[in-house]
Amino acid sequence: MTHPLLQLRDDALREIESATEEQALETTRVKYLGRSGSISAWGEQMKTLAKEEKPFIGKLLNEVRNAVTAAIETRNAQFRSQKESGALARIDISLPGTPHEIGVLHPLTQMWERSIEIFRRMGFALADGPDIEDEWHCFDALNTPPEHPARSEQDTFYLPDGRLLRTHTSTVQIRTMESTPPPIRVISPGAAYRNEDIDATHAAQFHQIEGLYVDENVSVADLKGALEFFMRELFGSDTAVQFRPHFFPFTEPSLEVYVKSRALKGGEQWIEVAGSGIVHPAVFEQVNKARGDKAYDPEKWSGYAFGLGMDRLAMILFDIPDLRLFAQNDLRFLRQFA
Ligand code: PHE
Repeated sequence: MTHPLLQLRDDALREIESATEEQALETTRVKYLGRSGSISAWGEQMKTLAKEEKPFIGKLLNEVRNAVTAAIETRNAQFRSQKESGALARIDISLPGTPHEIGVLHPLTQMWERSIEIFRRMGFALADGPDIEDEWHCFDALNTPPEHPARSEQDTFYLPDGRLLRTHTSTVQIRTMESTPPPIRVISPGAAYRNEDIDATHAAQFHQIEGLYVDENVSVADLKGALEFFMRELFGSDTAVQFRPHFFPFTEPSLEVYVKSRALKGGEQWIEVAGSGIVHPAVFEQVNKARGDKAYDPEKWSGYAFGLGMDRLAMILFDIPDLRLFAQNDLRFLRQFA
């Protein structure tokens, strides 16, 4: 005669086998293995068994429970895979997929990345400042007096509260020195704004990389060396770089940077790409005043600064005839820079 436990196991396995969906299987599970299921009830009965019976029945009970649990799991897995293949059956795998277009970086972004990479190799760290500035950071601290034409409303976008859109990234020179004592070696890429009449070479928003290096005994030779290296890395080792005297209120002497390369305009034309110079002592004094210390003692520290015109550099590098193309979001234009 089969033991009633084995009988229970066989009944359970048969029901599991004939369950046709998950709900029926669950009902079967509860019936046998649930808290008051018939297999579980045997566990309760163990207490009442005679001592010599216990090991035998205990072992049998375990085997039965394991067999039924395993059968339920197997059947459940079958249901799951049936469901999945059912879902797949409705998909036509011969249909072409949804195309995902691979984007390209905007030429200005590419220009920025290339430039930053070159300056990083030269030991420059990245600094940042806000696009909406106060007059002090944009002008006064940079030794630019109130009557300077750059400060007129025709040239600069003022907000009703007196703040303005920065007209150059040189504001970050001041912000960096306010928060950090020398020595300093930073670049700061960002947008600048001027109230320009817009044409092929003028935009109301343009882009610069500001550079600032402050240390002991910094000279024009250091400035020239750094910018020459940068231009040759960018445009090729045969690029000629020229420095022409200029005026900026916040540098003395001040120099404009021109490049000429075989790759550019047939190698015939000098093209202006940056303003630069040796940091004016008056700028250090303004920073000291704001800091409330003498960290930037002009007797001890000197520095150079430059502002590179990113749009101009990108126009040259990618041979782009009109600045306005950068902001028009025309995919036919942008796709060419893949
Ligand atoms: N800020 C100047 C400009 O926008 C460029 C510049 C930067 C000149 C740093 C000298 C030093 O024209």
